Amino acid sequence: MTKSTLEAEAILKRAAPLTHQQAHEIQPFGHLVRMPIALSEQTCKESVDNLNQLLADTITLRDLYKKHHWQVAGPTFYQLHLLFDKHYDEQNELVDKVAERVQLLGGVSVAMAHDVAETALIPRPPKGREEAPVQISRLLHAHEIVLKEARTMARRAAEGGDDGTNDLLVSDVIRRTNCRHGLSQSMWSTCH
Ligand SMILES: [Fe+2]
Repeated sequence: MTKSTLEAEAILKRAAPLTHQQAHEIQPFGHLVRMPIALSEQTCKESVDNLNQLLADTITLRDLYKKHHWQVAGPTFYQLHLLFDKHYDEQNELVDKVAERVQLLGGVSVAMAHDVAETALIPRPPKGREEAPVQISRLLHAHEIVLKEARTMARRAAEGGDDGTNDLLVSDVIRRTNCRHGLSQSMWSTCH
């Protein structure tokens, strides 16, 4: 092999994508990185733990909307099919905000489905299809779980001086959840 051929191979190797890379995690789950955000470590830790619980439930509620969007049936199919997907999108925005707040506080946000399933308090629905009133009743219950935990967490965040987390919980999670909760209740009366 000539010298120029060898050089070409070395250059090509450098241009090839790196696959199957393995390394230690840079931050294990549950460990906090101190951030320059003028909050005590204790406050950050409590907010991160609470927000990860809320995140798991918010992801579950979001996915429940998509499941019901796909599987809904009956005379109210069209309205519910559209409404469930609209709420899925809104819930997805919340998921992103909560997850990013966890990272901003120096934590690691829960992310993958199996980790979410282990953490969520919202009861696991069956894999199969259910009637529209059952779907809506499930969503109402899930919203109530999120509201209950978000209210307690908001109070704890305010007590610890974590106004950013308190604002996220009150202005985004509680306010928007209340709104969707009300809409789902109206749909329940329509379907019943
Ligand atoms: Fe769709």
